[in-house]
Amino acid sequence: MKTRNELLSQSVERLRMAKLDTPELDARVLVKYALKLSDAELIGGSDLNVSPDCASGLENMICRRVRGEPVARIIGRKEFWGLSFELGLDTLVPRPETETLIEAALAAFGRGTPRKVLDLGTGTGCLLLGLLSEYPEASGLGVDIAPKAVEVAAANGRRLGFDGRAEFRVSDWDEGVEGQFDLILSNPPYILREDIEKLAPEVRLHDPIKALDGGPDGLSAYRALAAAAARRLAPQGLLIAELGAGQEADVAGVMAKAGLKVDGPARPDLAGIPRALVVRR
Ligand SMILES: C[S@@+](CC[C@H](N)C(=O)[O-])C[C@H]1O[C@@H](n2cnc3c(N)ncnc32)[C@H](O)[C@@H]1O
Repeated sequence: MKTRNELLSQSVERLRMAKLDTPELDARVLVKYALKLSDAELIGGSDLNVSPDCASGLENMICRRVRGEPVARIIGRKEFWGLSFELGLDTLVPRPETETLIEAALAAFGRGTPRKVLDLGTGTGCLLLGLLSEYPEASGLGVDIAPKAVEVAAANGRRLGFDGRAEFRVSDWDEGVEGQFDLILSNPPYILREDIEKLAPEVRLHDPIKALDGGPDGLSAYRALAAAAARRLAPQGLLIAELGAGQEADVAGVMAKAGLKVDGPARPDLAGIPRALVVRR
């Protein structure tokens, strides 16, 4: 039998040999999940023996990581806005830069509250549920074209305690949606179709194509979003949409063509890339 410490250092070494970017961090997360440890247990008790079952579970996880599977896919969950989201095969892994949309919403609404929120292309439900965690008086609807993503989002909503405030539904953008909303959030698919094959294998092989494919010019979903926002925004409502790198001017053009006003410039993410575009009626 091996100790926790031995397994951790062996795991770091295996991931380092595989030339992964963050071997220490990845190994710690995988050891924590495979051995079912709390943060405190991961730090302390490092000379305790690990059962053969747990050790073989960890071995399986390390092999998957060495083959290039993202850590979030291996453990089946990802943190977003301080909440833990379960993933499914049809959901994107929530990205840290998408949190910029929530920051933009907090900045735009200040002490006010968006009472009715719509999340178009909800995936795991991370944007809607993250936003609702900030506004106790808000409620919302998350839609997605992928039925299995909607099931995952609904399960996340229940598990995180948003029953009664968050509803999830299958819909092609706002097709199955009625009424108007104070805030529409969306992180749409925005990768140029011809660029998809150039994406890193971690994305290309593990994120669902419906979450990536922005059509021939990367803007197909923004055209649908602009039309949906023109129909569904309340008079003082805001659309906050995520941008791909370099898309700000093109997306602003799509919004203006639909008769919407852009509150530029877009809010940058932590890497300084314009990321969250705020749009009004
Ligand atoms: C980039 S992912 C974003 C997922 C999630 N909001 C997030 O930020 O992690 C885009 C999402 O849009 C959904 N989608 C693609 N086309 C759609 C459509 N026509 N109607 C509704 N949702 C769509 C995809 O299934 C995917 O879940």
